[in-house]
Amino acid sequence: MKVIYLDNNATTKVSQEVVDAMLPYLSDYYGNPSSMHSFGGDVAEKIKEARENVANLIGATADEIVFTSCGTESDSTAILAAIESNPDRKHIVTSRVEHPAVKNLCEILSKKGYRVTFVPVDGQGILDLDYLYQNLSDDTAIVSLMWANNETGVLFPIEEISQRTNDQGIVFHTDAVQAVGKIPIDVKNTGVDLLSLTGHKFHAPKGIGALYIRKGTKYSPFMIGGHQEKGRRGGTENVASIIALGKAAELAKKHLDADGYEHIGRLRDKLETNLLNRISHSMVNGDREHRLLNTTSIAYEYVEGEAILLMMNEHGICASSGSACTSGSLEPSHVLRAMGVPFTAAHGSIRYSLSRYTTEEEIDVVIEKTPAIIERLRAMSPFWKEAMAAAAG
Ligand SMILES: Cc1ncc(COP(=O)(O)O)c(C=O)c1O
Repeated sequence: MKVIYLDNNATTKVSQEVVDAMLPYLSDYYGNPSSMHSFGGDVAEKIKEARENVANLIGATADEIVFTSCGTESDSTAILAAIESNPDRKHIVTSRVEHPAVKNLCEILSKKGYRVTFVPVDGQGILDLDYLYQNLSDDTAIVSLMWANNETGVLFPIEEISQRTNDQGIVFHTDAVQAVGKIPIDVKNTGVDLLSLTGHKFHAPKGIGALYIRKGTKYSPFMIGGHQEKGRRGGTENVASIIALGKAAELAKKHLDADGYEHIGRLRDKLETNLLNRISHSMVNGDREHRLLNTTSIAYEYVEGEAILLMMNEHGICASSGSACTSGSLEPSHVLRAMGVPFTAAHGSIRYSLSRYTTEEEIDVVIEKTPAIIERLRAMSPFWKEAMAAAAG
């Protein structure tokens, strides 16, 4: 059965061009980039090129890019570096809808004596800016906010917020893992000091990421070891993956410049409009204007997301639900809870996330198959029957 892959916010297919670029560095060119001989030196040159491509994707300069193992490492490094470099400041600001890579670290830090403000969002996932600004103080060591939400695709106004924190002399970090490669980013025109990205969200392999560190930002390494990455991250470089990341960044920039993701946006809108029109009691989670063009989170009321996913799977359709398994029971995700999405809708939420490899034929199959799936599940749902009986009076 052909796989219809609409789970690109979880991870993406590695582009063939990326595989082709990295493979020789797993087989033929295995030199250590730190070695004195040219067999290693040639590899160092390729790493330099990859660094330039990653920098170019976000408007940075090459020496502002440090390679890491993933988005999670970049997030941890950024936050821990900021608090270590500002030891007199004991306050951290983040939001209620961050990825666990930021959320869980901040929760741990709150148990270690840091005061953490979790800024709320409204029903559309829009950040409460007044609340954020009111909570900034001379004690704030770092503000860490995601650029795009992984579940809803909702974008935070990072340019505006980071200018404000900059003016107040507060370090600003953004987890841009879901934004990089999907929206144009030019860090030069922002007040962003630290930015996390990861390759597997834009067609590079898993296990390679980067941290942008604005020139002049106070910094201390998380991985302490050798002189690699100019002492900013110890450990022999993951050469093949770095080269893959560079290639993926080059391709992402090319595609973004060519059509700004409009093609993907058109397919997403076709999918969304058709599903909403064909399935009653369905709605979009999150603001439909300020969001990534590749993402839609749709709530089908009175059905279980996991059951929908299983039935979609029978047709080869891959997506994600809005629930997470917590202590053996299915709980709506912290993102949907923070937005106040009603329980009956949060439970039946499905996130569809597209990529440049998604085709119109695939979208047509999903539009064709989904209404029958929801209908079958609702026919078995006591909540649906109850709701319909109540509506009938
Ligand atoms: C918003 C966000 N931040 C961080 C991460 C973590 O990235 P990685 O899987 O590379 O550690 C993810 C991955 O899903 C994400 O969506």
